[in-house]
Amino acid sequence: MTLYSPGAPNPEGLASAAQARVFEALPEAQSAFFAPGRVNLMGDHIDYLGGVVLPMSLTEGTVLAAEAKARRDEGGLEVWALDASEKALLSSKDLERPLGDWRRRLVAVLAALGLTPETVPFRIAISGTLAGGGLSSSASFALVLARWLRGEGLGEAHDSWSLARILQTVERDHAGVACGLMDPLAIDLGTVDGALRLDCEQGTATPVALGFSEAVFALVHCGVGRRLDDGAYNRVRARLAAALAEEGFSADRLPPQGVRVRTAPLRHVQSEQARVWAGCEALAAGDAAAFGALMDASHGSLAEDYGVSLPELDRLTALARGLPGVHGARLTGAGFGGWAQLLVELDAWPELHRTFAAEGFPKAFIATPGGAPRALPLGSSHG
Ligand code: GLA
Repeated sequence: MTLYSPGAPNPEGLASAAQARVFEALPEAQSAFFAPGRVNLMGDHIDYLGGVVLPMSLTEGTVLAAEAKARRDEGGLEVWALDASEKALLSSKDLERPLGDWRRRLVAVLAALGLTPETVPFRIAISGTLAGGGLSSSASFALVLARWLRGEGLGEAHDSWSLARILQTVERDHAGVACGLMDPLAIDLGTVDGALRLDCEQGTATPVALGFSEAVFALVHCGVGRRLDDGAYNRVRARLAAALAEEGFSADRLPPQGVRVRTAPLRHVQSEQARVWAGCEALAAGDAAAFGALMDASHGSLAEDYGVSLPELDRLTALARGLPGVHGARLTGAGFGGWAQLLVELDAWPELHRTFAAEGFPKAFIATPGGAPRALPLGSSHG
């Protein structure tokens, strides 16, 4: 049986399958960049209320390789979107394409940085290893582009928080998803040492070490991919807004801890915030059983009170909870399909991996912190 793993090891160890693809497409590349994906360990659907969340960047992510065009009259930015098997010479007119089209989003990121495709004389190839939903492939795509452009001295310079606000607007206006700030921040401020405690209201980020001695986070795909631009995400936000208004709370803030809430969406956001704080304590204490119990409770709350799970995610997480060596299981990110996050004993993982594959969930890997976006060395993987 062949078990999925996102790429063979290579010297950098970052999204190796995507590195192989972009360097094969552009063997003469003069620069290359990596941006991680992220897994949110606790605190889903509270970032847009100014909540405190606990994401971790990943060694899986998006890779971009670039070659300068010899002459400006060869036209502007030419993009080879390898995962879509599409190649395009972009133009400002791409902003008129339908919401969610990758060319529209890419040109919108350029515009937000003060650029047009006509003024970026490069050929680039992009590929990622985050497909399937829940690991923030779209923020990873936007950040690999934005940070590579800065590396080339192009586009306005932004710190992580202002860039996150810009990308949030791009996502809302050009993908139709009214998301929060967590994803671009989790990626741009990612560390190789562990997770981040991000306070989306105060604008602060604090590194949080993973204090477990034997337990690791694993990601298992539920078999159903998801798209957020079909309106599901915005619908849950609208339901939340209605509940906040009905109970007399402000539209973009969490109901305070300790104040009694009546409706299911508010129960979720209030209890999820409390689980983030408890989760930070469990991480600091290295208490895998406690963190796992919080994950189980978080999944229940996301599924029952917030309504963002699917039967496949429920089946996968229930299966996981019954297996030896699993401390907890939850959906991660927006929900509606995609990857589930497990906390497992490292030495139980090979057997667990086989069991999940036999039960119809073959795509799985151990989540390793991936740091922040950065240039990749050219020598190791091509040439
Ligand atoms: C998506 C959004 C984030 C966040 C999560 C749920 O990933 O982009 O802003 O709301 O869903 O926690």
